[in-house]
Amino acid sequence: MKQRGWSADVIAAVTLLAALTFAAALAAIGFYVGHKTRGSTATPATTRAAVATIDPQVAAGAHQFVAFACAQCHGMGGTGGVSPDVPALTQIGPQLTSAQLRSVIDHGMGVSANPAKPFMPVWGNVISSRQVDDLVAYIRAGLPAVPDAVPVAIPQGQGAEVAGAALYVKYGCINCHGPNGLGGVPNPQSPDKTIPPLSGADFFKQFNTDAKIIDFIRSGSVLGRQPIVSMPHWGGIISDPDLRALVAYIKTLKTA
Ligand code: HEC
Ligand code: HEC
Repeated sequence: MKQRGWSADVIAAVTLLAALTFAAALAAIGFYVGHKTRGSTATPATTRAAVATIDPQVAAGAHQFVAFACAQCHGMGGTGGVSPDVPALTQIGPQLTSAQLRSVIDHGMGVSANPAKPFMPVWGNVISSRQVDDLVAYIRAGLPAVPDAVPVAIPQGQGAEVAGAALYVKYGCINCHGPNGLGGVPNPQSPDKTIPPLSGADFFKQFNTDAKIIDFIRSGSVLGRQPIVSMPHWGGIISDPDLRALVAYIKTLKTA
């Protein structure tokens, strides 16, 4: 009797102890898993919150600043440093009124008295009014860094044609001369009424050497005053190897 009673007590105690240990282990695992889960979702939530604080119009302007190659002349974020002939925008930009900025982007600033120097291109026929609003918002916000608003990467070690195709996008040639150099962007007041293609029989008849194409890209061509869009002057902006890569790409385009 006594033996059984003692044995029953021991069994009860051991069972209780085991149950408590099991519950404690479960609680510990539960806490750990819960903690881990909360910890791992916390990071993306914070990132989303940070991104969401960027005004969508400012973000759109930052992406256009890259897409229209403003960044290739004025520097990433408008910090300058590309050419002594192109001003930085970080100081002056936010001080200009929206109307002044819109006017400079739509109409340019007139061509330089020295034809060997770059000028601010006329963008009114190429960039939409809504896009100019975005650019103005971005510049007036102080040209802040915006995630992913970076130029296309230029593939290295894959030949001049491949690099040139990417440079055609990076320098915004595509916005005026069209995908694959097909042309067609309206330029109503110009003699041809459109920005010329960089392909086809007429183009390759006139531009029958690499040197002729390179010279034209370097020196640009002023067709007339705004609202006429002229070919920007890229001398001092695009390096010689990049000019040669652009030509290698242009020579892959349709010849007829
Ligand atoms: C081919 C080079 C080039 C490109 C591309 C270019 N700019 Fe300019 N930009 C210039 C030059 C050069 C000036 C100075 C013109 C002058 O002082 O006559 C200028 C001036 C300006 C100014 C006036 C700055 C001041 O000091 O008053 C603004 C604003 C501006 N650019 C914005 C832009 C934007 C926005 C884009 C893209 C849509 C752009 N630029 C693309 C060359 C360029
Ligand atoms: C703002 C619009 C604009 C941009 C950006 C632009 N171009 Fe042009 N381009 C023109 C216009 C307008 C002409 C016509 C000039 C003329 O007929 O005198 C032209 C002419 C040319 C020509 C001579 C074609 C012909 O038939 O006269 C070449 C080559 C050329 N561009 C290459 C380029 C390259 C390469 C880029 C990029 C680095 C580029 N362009 C960027 C507007 C642009």
